[in-house]
Amino acid sequence: MRSTVRWALQHGLPRALMRRAAAGGDLQARLLADPTTAAAEDPFLLHDEVRAQGPVIRGRLTYLTATHSVVRDVLRSDDFRAGNISAVFPWPLNRLNDWAQDARILHPIEPPSLLAVEPPEHTRYRRQVSRVFTARAVEALRPQVQALADGLLDDLLAAGPTSEIDLVADYATLLPVAVIAEILGVPAAERAEVLGYGAGAAPSLDMGLPWREFRHVDASLRAFDAWLGRHLQRLRRDPGDDLLSQLVTLTDDGERLSETELRATAGLLLAAGFETTVNLLSSGVELLLRHPDQVAVLRTDPSLWGNAVEEVLRMESPVQLTARSAVRDTEVAGMAVPAGQRVVTLLGGANRDPAVFTDPHTFDVARSNAREHLSFSGGRHFCLGASLARMEGEIGLRALFERFPDLQLGAPGARRHTRVLRGWQQLPVVLGAPSRGEATALPGPPSD
Ligand code: HEM
Repeated sequence: MRSTVRWALQHGLPRALMRRAAAGGDLQARLLADPTTAAAEDPFLLHDEVRAQGPVIRGRLTYLTATHSVVRDVLRSDDFRAGNISAVFPWPLNRLNDWAQDARILHPIEPPSLLAVEPPEHTRYRRQVSRVFTARAVEALRPQVQALADGLLDDLLAAGPTSEIDLVADYATLLPVAVIAEILGVPAAERAEVLGYGAGAAPSLDMGLPWREFRHVDASLRAFDAWLGRHLQRLRRDPGDDLLSQLVTLTDDGERLSETELRATAGLLLAAGFETTVNLLSSGVELLLRHPDQVAVLRTDPSLWGNAVEEVLRMESPVQLTARSAVRDTEVAGMAVPAGQRVVTLLGGANRDPAVFTDPHTFDVARSNAREHLSFSGGRHFCLGASLARMEGEIGLRALFERFPDLQLGAPGARRHTRVLRGWQQLPVVLGAPSRGEATALPGPPSD
């Protein structure tokens, strides 16, 4: 009963509203919920339309912006807070929504997820995670990430140079899982199980899910949470030298996370660790293979690989959008936004704003300001895993292209159907003969 009400309020009702609005041409609805548009394939033309209509526009359910400066300002503004799905409901529905919540489900965009809390909770959670997830700890993982990538590429050799493999299932998914599993102490034998929960839960970020998919997402979140509880118990009993064991056993102040807070934080780290980087890798491979001239640039100047990753992030933001709710009556780019209203910030749209990026739809691995993209969000919710993701992207893409210099696209691939997360579900490629030389270890990142 509760789950039916939850689905009706969070998905069924918005879905019905959105479908009607999409039929009437509403841009937001076309982007987020219209099954008849190619928005999941190519949202960027719609982003251009949003931007052309103004720095911020009023959609049927929320405000919407694809303008770089506005997206950046909203994400940094203290007039807005993150999370809080129920903010879009009028008061009586809010109460009903609260009643319908299932305490057994830790949702990635509902409290106590880092993504959905604000100070003082956010400061406390983030400080705890940052104590173990330091830039130094991440940088120390570099040789391990390289070794994991090399090992996966060794495994691919068995396929032979002429057969087709699925780049997503056979490489792009495996590298981030292996890396985050090491960081969080997940035994190798349980990685496939955890990956299954992640895949099942990925649509949880989208709105307007059909009932069956919603049920599947709920079941995946519940199973994931139960697994997390067992995993944390195991680490408490028998801590390893991974970062999660350190987080679980932190004892020296009154700021320790409660069991639920810990599960939410560890779950977010795990899910964010493998549900986003996989898209960076798959989109990167697809973009590069469609632009052999850019691969040639990288071959001539391998020091550009780091910048190439920034350009992939800019062109194909793995997280396409996020949202904020106004905590007080405020103004965005001259438009009044009343307290409680939400603004959807189109990260993928901001990344192609011609006011910031020349020829924004052109893929240019040498673009001098590629790093100004907003794919890792901004303000206090700026992605905690950004440096890890950048490192995995650089090592993962470079090692692949250096090992298989004749890599080519195979049969047509299929994009993921999710709207918030963007990447490939399947990407067939033909490996070609492996290079004879040993892949060179990557130098460390530039300090900035
Ligand atoms: C290419 C890969 C990735 C992308 C594009 C990405 C993107 C994002 C974005 C857009 C946000 C903020 C959402 C918002 O402002 O509402 C975020 C937050 C976060 N990300 Fe990532 N992420 C990536 C990889 C990772 C990895 C590898 C980890 C962990 C190991 C991670 C952990 C987190 C965490 C914990 C937060 C919450 C931070 C907070 O709310 O304070 N992410 N990420």
